[in-house]
Amino acid sequence: MSTFPATRLRRLRRTGPLRSLVRETRLDLESFVLPLFVAPETVCNEALPAMGRLSLDDLVREVEECAGLGVSAILLFGVPDEQDKDDEGSGAWIEDGIVQRALRELSPRYPELLLLTDVCLCEYTAHGHCGALHDGEVANDETLDLLARTAVSHVEAGADAVAPSDMMDGRVGAIRTALDDAGHPVAPILAYSAKYASAFYGPFREAAGSAPAFGDRRGYQMDPANVREALRECELDLAEGADVLMVKPALPNLDVIRAVRERFDAPLAAYNVSGEYAMVKAAAAAGFLDERAAALESLTAIRRAGADVVISYWTKELARWL
Ligand code: PBG
Repeated sequence: MSTFPATRLRRLRRTGPLRSLVRETRLDLESFVLPLFVAPETVCNEALPAMGRLSLDDLVREVEECAGLGVSAILLFGVPDEQDKDDEGSGAWIEDGIVQRALRELSPRYPELLLLTDVCLCEYTAHGHCGALHDGEVANDETLDLLARTAVSHVEAGADAVAPSDMMDGRVGAIRTALDDAGHPVAPILAYSAKYASAFYGPFREAAGSAPAFGDRRGYQMDPANVREALRECELDLAEGADVLMVKPALPNLDVIRAVRERFDAPLAAYNVSGEYAMVKAAAAAGFLDERAAALESLTAIRRAGADVVISYWTKELARWL
């Protein structure tokens, strides 16, 4: 290997065009998914603009604007009225549920836009857990049917793909079977395969009104200390029919993204979650960081670690930045 002075790595760093020429990781809008929250009424979020709740009308307006900017995929979350929540989370699958109504508005209007939906019960259960309760615990097997029903209702209302985020064992298989039985064998499943019980979901739970009323989610979401377990989750999800794997949150788990990338050939998504967005927003508001630079660096790192798809609250800004 030649060494200094023959080799000078700074040569290719000297100008913008040289740096661009040899850049190993690029951000392209087609790889990004924008989460959006649909609710009975619009509630703006001053500090975290991408985390506001949108009424159906405002959702259509927002999607119109985002599609115009080149955003190619959205991930819909429903935030029902507090009084419509029940123990099973039936608002998740009912015919006129908030997400189903949003899908029926959006899917005929934006045939080119990918409409993904989060499949989970926590926004719809009165207790805020991601499944039905049995003796104070989230009952795995009883929840599967509820999730499957939810997924089918999303696809029938116009979702292009469903993303189960509940972390019940066997949910991918249950959803795959239900979709196939309902005549939707081509609807893909983007599985939140390695979803950790994370402190970084705080702003999301505020936005979605989905904080658990008691306890926490460590009985079903993964322990952040584990990486081999993440590979087992991915392996099982693929065996059950997952089309895309996901690691979440992204930045604390870049090593997990890399490990999954190296082990499996399936497309891999990473969720740059609400707390990761909020940290940069808050630091930028305090004058400590440049938001754009910090966001672009974070998103690049997630792609470099091995994510093909990135779910990020910066997706709309990214459309302007790129
Ligand atoms: C629903 C769900 C959560 C997130 C996505 N889907 C919250 C949770 O598991 O408590 C978090 C997303 C974010 O923080 O941006 N289960």
